[in-house]
Amino acid sequence: MNKFDVIAIGELNVDVILNNIDGEPEIGKEKFAKEMILTLGSSTAIFAANIACLGSKTGFIGMIGQDTFGDLIESSLSNKGVDISMLIRSDKYSSGATICLNYHEDRANVTYQGAMDFMTFDDMDKTLFTKTKHIHLSSIFMQSGIKKDLPEVLKYSRENGLTTSLDPQWDPVEKWDFDYEKILPYVNVFLPNETELKLITQSHSLDEAVQKIRPFIDICVVKRGREGSLLLQKNQEPIHLDAFLNNETIDAIGAGDSFNAGFIHAFVKGETAENAQIIGNLTGAINTTAAGGTGAFTSKDAVKEIAMLKFNQELKI
Ligand SMILES: Nc1ncnc2c1ncn2[C@@H]1O[C@H](COP(=O)(O)OP(=O)(O)OP(=O)(O)O)[C@@H](O)[C@H]1O
Ligand SMILES: [Mg+2]
Repeated sequence: MNKFDVIAIGELNVDVILNNIDGEPEIGKEKFAKEMILTLGSSTAIFAANIACLGSKTGFIGMIGQDTFGDLIESSLSNKGVDISMLIRSDKYSSGATICLNYHEDRANVTYQGAMDFMTFDDMDKTLFTKTKHIHLSSIFMQSGIKKDLPEVLKYSRENGLTTSLDPQWDPVEKWDFDYEKILPYVNVFLPNETELKLITQSHSLDEAVQKIRPFIDICVVKRGREGSLLLQKNQEPIHLDAFLNNETIDAIGAGDSFNAGFIHAFVKGETAENAQIIGNLTGAINTTAAGGTGAFTSKDAVKEIAMLKFNQELKI
């Protein structure tokens, strides 16, 4: 009997968000910010929290430090219903942190990766791979240890009969060094956004990128923001699905992770990729109805209610 439906492997950090700052930072000077929010950051954590909210039994493998930020990360994940027993506490490295300087719609971020960059396949308890149906990996460019070991993690998952999904997320150094021909044959569901896919495949258009990856994928969903998503499957015609738009978008922080949560929740339950795409578009849209990545995901019933009230859709999960 599996203890988990999904184990997420990803980055973990806190966000220190500064709002209402008196001007931009200047070397050698000091400025006041009128508001500070200290909260759990990391997009993989948004995924884990939201898929747990939809009802998947969810665990998290990530590396944090033996510090107060680590305690905050642990308790925040736990409060969201995510199992924290697999988190690894490094005695060498501090927990990651992102300092976000908010200026109206834009933000200047500086991230200290810390422990998240050092976790490798060796650090993981291999028996965990016998306790879940599915492994979701995300933010590989933030975690050089995991990125290096991706082929091993994916092959080990497959040997143990698990399915896998991978969201590459943004590459902060913008090198886009990702051997998709080698990696994608071991991934069941690949979940890039359009820009990431074009950069990874060095393509000028979405069409060109799609042609390049098609021989290597099983299922791929390209996330396209307000344009919706494009579902690609081996030997099948691509399916474009419009977004469920609403006129009262609060923000789109974490929309991609919420899409992933809906899609993977449905996929692991055995839904077709077509149905999973509808559910992903809906959970991505639901994400935009409240602030931040997890604001709209307070309970399964609340999520279903937003689907009905804001988008006139029955969320079948
Ligand atoms: N403003 C919006 N209104 C409705 N649906 C949206 C909106 N923005 C995103 N979505 C839905 O959520 C999905 C994922 O969003 P997006 O394409 O922004 O992912 P992403 O770029 O990976 O985001 P993230 O920054 O969270 O990683 C889209 O495919 C779409 O279906
Ligand atoms: Mg994304």
